[in-house]
Amino acid sequence: MNQDYIQPNPWSILEEGFNPNHIKSSESIFSLGNAVMGQRASFEEKYSGNTFQGSYIAGIYYPDKTRVGWWKNGYPKYFAKVLNAPSWIGINVIINNEELDLNACVNVKNFKRELNMKEGILYRSFSATLHNGIEIAVKSTRFLSLAFDELGAIKFEVTPINQDATISFITYLDSGIKNQDSNWDDQFWDTKKVSIENNQAHIEANTLKTFFFVNTFMENKTFLNGKEFQIPPETNSTQTYAGLSYTNKTSKGETFSVQKLGGYTTSLNHDSEKLISAAKNTLKTANALGFEKLKKTQLKAWEEIWRHSDITIEGDIKAQQGIRFSIFQLNQTYLGKDSRLNIGPKGFTGEKYGGSTYWDTEAYCIPFYMATKNKFVARNLLEYRYRQLDKAIENATKLGFTNGAALFPMVTMNGEECHNEWEITFEEIHRNGAIAFAIFNYVRYTNDYSYIPEKGLEVLIAIARFWQQRTNFSDAKNKYVILGVTGPNEYENNVNNNWYTNYIAKWCINYAIEQINHIKQYYEKDFVRIMHKAKLSEAEIKKWKLVADNLYFPYDENKKVFLQQEGFLDKELIPVKDLNKSQRPINQKWSWDRILRSAYIKQADVLQGFYFFEDHFTTEELQRHFDFYEPFTVHESSLSPCVHAIQAAKLGRMEQAYQFYLRTSRLDLNDYNHEVEEGCHITSMAGTWMSIVEGFGGMRIKENMLHFSPKIPEQWISYSFKINFRGQVIQVYVTKECCSFELHGNTPLEIVVHEKTVTLLPKEKITV
Ligand code: BGC
Repeated sequence: MNQDYIQPNPWSILEEGFNPNHIKSSESIFSLGNAVMGQRASFEEKYSGNTFQGSYIAGIYYPDKTRVGWWKNGYPKYFAKVLNAPSWIGINVIINNEELDLNACVNVKNFKRELNMKEGILYRSFSATLHNGIEIAVKSTRFLSLAFDELGAIKFEVTPINQDATISFITYLDSGIKNQDSNWDDQFWDTKKVSIENNQAHIEANTLKTFFFVNTFMENKTFLNGKEFQIPPETNSTQTYAGLSYTNKTSKGETFSVQKLGGYTTSLNHDSEKLISAAKNTLKTANALGFEKLKKTQLKAWEEIWRHSDITIEGDIKAQQGIRFSIFQLNQTYLGKDSRLNIGPKGFTGEKYGGSTYWDTEAYCIPFYMATKNKFVARNLLEYRYRQLDKAIENATKLGFTNGAALFPMVTMNGEECHNEWEITFEEIHRNGAIAFAIFNYVRYTNDYSYIPEKGLEVLIAIARFWQQRTNFSDAKNKYVILGVTGPNEYENNVNNNWYTNYIAKWCINYAIEQINHIKQYYEKDFVRIMHKAKLSEAEIKKWKLVADNLYFPYDENKKVFLQQEGFLDKELIPVKDLNKSQRPINQKWSWDRILRSAYIKQADVLQGFYFFEDHFTTEELQRHFDFYEPFTVHESSLSPCVHAIQAAKLGRMEQAYQFYLRTSRLDLNDYNHEVEEGCHITSMAGTWMSIVEGFGGMRIKENMLHFSPKIPEQWISYSFKINFRGQVIQVYVTKECCSFELHGNTPLEIVVHEKTVTLLPKEKITV
């Protein structure tokens, strides 16, 4: 059963009524992040039921020693993991000697959780009756500040309802934290010092092996009926714990509350000796502002984000909630300020997927960031890979490649490969293609060519080298071939001539050559520097070209389709619709062996190529391939429905496109994959955005111009989105009858709507 307990609402994620079975799902869905740190939405107070606590700090990781059944040469020794960090949110609550624990109360009433996406604030309220007969009303308000990104704030309020009560708040920091997915049950954190000073506490700890130094801090204030009311705390500490306890005899109807400011200062951004003083400075500024003003800065910061990126949908509240949830979570995960950071498939909502960076970033996330922020954000994402080029070359060298060929990792934190299943680590090499494609896509969208001579070309050369070396000449075919790969469809391993991989390999080589020629002509100084650094000769480029011009592509003359890989047509071709529902999802119901032999496709593979290179094919070819492959696609990767939504919309199959849209946009809210407890699918949320903007809106960049061909699902009255195109914001508004465009900028802009050129003038609305 898919879950359906999240209440539809345009701006909020809402849960009403307390259900212990929803706790872990809600901890994922209601997660908070400010792109520098994030946390699952665990309760502040003790919860003895089933829970999965998680706090994460961007860029702080631990290399967990690889654990595999059978060691294969070339495996990475470590798997760098996003680390579950020390927790600062804890506030245990004691009422007349009984600890508040929703899993143990006599009853819980009016439980409500709201993640207000407009504000970036998590609210929770309930009333509970304890075994000692006391009934209390509780409210908590929590956010991770965007303005002060090392800081979070919590206000926790308790009101005894039926009698006076002695209430204690024990606010604490805890560094005795482990990852649930630790390979060897190792300790990841080494706590150095726990210190308490008045209402403040600090825990200094460092990660073992990677030596990131982190100071976790908190400072509290207590209030009675909203007025500050100082209570000297009792203190309690252990080697990994700092607790401050505040007790007050509270009369029936009065509200006793604690305000807790907390967060992290880390050696990523400060001298490791100065983490406590940096925390004190932040706390001083935050305390001077106070909770309400901090909250106001939060509202303002989110208002600014929404001003550039909101999408409105009229007439379909679930679709509206889904797209806002996606935009919200993407912004909680990454804001593009730091090129050392990236976007993990689970963001800050869980541990699964270990390291942070996958091809998801280049293939799915960059379009979202390019169009909703300024170009520097996407550029930082490109630079992330540039910074890791040496490691990618090292990675390829370990596998036997030479001469500066680079294989970027399938999964990484710091540039080292940290995936350890041979069929993915060694075979899923198409990821290199997405990294080159993102450079092309960035230049196509932003028109900022400077990235290529400055950094991009070195990456393109190293990738082209890899592809040339990864091919071999087949005498039998009289063509170059790429053997033993896994394409985007991970339900096939060790296949020969995966069409998508071969296609992107050829494209990468040709694109690299094109850019070398361009830079030779127009950026002479850079050309000399790069050629010297890369030691690239004309003879080597010739070898690349020979491969690109003679690469093999499996094709079936009868069906007139490119084959996903050699031998695809030998499979038993039973469409997914004829599979018994009880067999789905196949990744949970079938053995791996059976999946590999089947024709079922996890996610867009050939169609991924048609998505990237749409212009290389006619609509008729797209339709033929879509009709051939989609029926075998089980969409068991979160990245699958969005590509299909875009293509279905392009083919005018709006009902199908709409169904794919709902699947991608409500994947986590409705838990379609039965795994939201482990965390949300952050990177596929960028695909949700693409489904609207590129799918329904039909946005493309062609010949240096912005094109639209808006369509609207039957179920919607209207929708509207904004994109930042080369420094100007364009608002697109689509109804069933027409579409209009408004330019928020100063320079007139020619765009193409349904293949007709239209000139947008500043602040003028044009209806087509
Ligand atoms: C998909 C990959 C993706 C990864 C992380 C897998 O299930 O097949 O394409 O990179 O998840 O999102």
